[in-house]
Amino acid sequence: MAPIDLENLTYEAADGVGTVTVAREKALNALDEKTLRELLAVLDAVRLDRDLRALIVTGKGDKAFVAGADIAAMSTLGPLRARRFADLGHRVCAGLEELELPTIAAVNGFALGGGLELAMACDLVYASDRARFGQPEVNLGLMPGFGGTQRLARRVGPMRAKEMIFSGAMYGAEQARAMGLALEVVPHGELQAFCREKARLIASRGPVAVARSKRAIQVGADESLASGCELERESFGLLFGTADAAEGMRAFLEKRAPAFKGS
Ligand code: CAA
Repeated sequence: MAPIDLENLTYEAADGVGTVTVAREKALNALDEKTLRELLAVLDAVRLDRDLRALIVTGKGDKAFVAGADIAAMSTLGPLRARRFADLGHRVCAGLEELELPTIAAVNGFALGGGLELAMACDLVYASDRARFGQPEVNLGLMPGFGGTQRLARRVGPMRAKEMIFSGAMYGAEQARAMGLALEVVPHGELQAFCREKARLIASRGPVAVARSKRAIQVGADESLASGCELERESFGLLFGTADAAEGMRAFLEKRAPAFKGS
């Protein structure tokens, strides 16, 4: 991937796994406009990188994943600029969902407001035992602005989403797991290695098959069962035209590990 100038993020890739880290530790990794634009630039580069198989999103330091949109920056916005700021956050979250490769949120601390919205845009969420989740916007006289009213309701059900958003309360990692906001809770010091291991496992599978599965699950969640099943059948058939499917089935029959190329 071509180098991008990043100030508020770091990005690195190894063994087919990219890791983007929100790195504004002094503001608990809060998302301002610059950080959101940098995230969009990373997503563009990730989309074009044919060697990547999975992306991890995390926050710098031991305290926060992302503690929300940057409140100091938002405090000077009027309605039109706030709308454009929300558009930017929505583009980042939609951009994560639209990536063909799977994304993993490694929630290493506070995931609040825009931070929880960012995590929910990832395919898989794993939490440190120190993580705290919430949509505390109402404490500021605001409401979720990066998709929280929609993705949270789909993730935990409308009634729980209303409780979380109306109360602005924070929830511990175990509670978040029980609600379906995180898949697993991992001891804090083991989280990054745990997520890298999950990402490497996925990276070793057939990339086109993983990408088509992601698309079918995502499209199916927003459409009827019949149209989701139709997309599945179509994708299943298409995979038989890929070199990877031929290789995967041949490798099984020859009792060896497959060497997938992503084509
Ligand atoms: N924006 C800007 N700065 C933030 C921030 C945020 N969302 N969250 C924390 N910070 C800053 C603090 O202002 C503080 O800066 P200073 O050291 O310069 O004073 C620094 O990070 C450390 O924070 P605290 O001293 O508050 O740390 P704490 O451990 O006492 O509390 C916390 C941690 C509970 C997360 C608390 O910082 C907090 O409540 N943060 C705000 C969380 C929030 O409301 N998020 C939602 C934002 S709105 C939103 O996200 C809208 C949307 O949907 C798009």
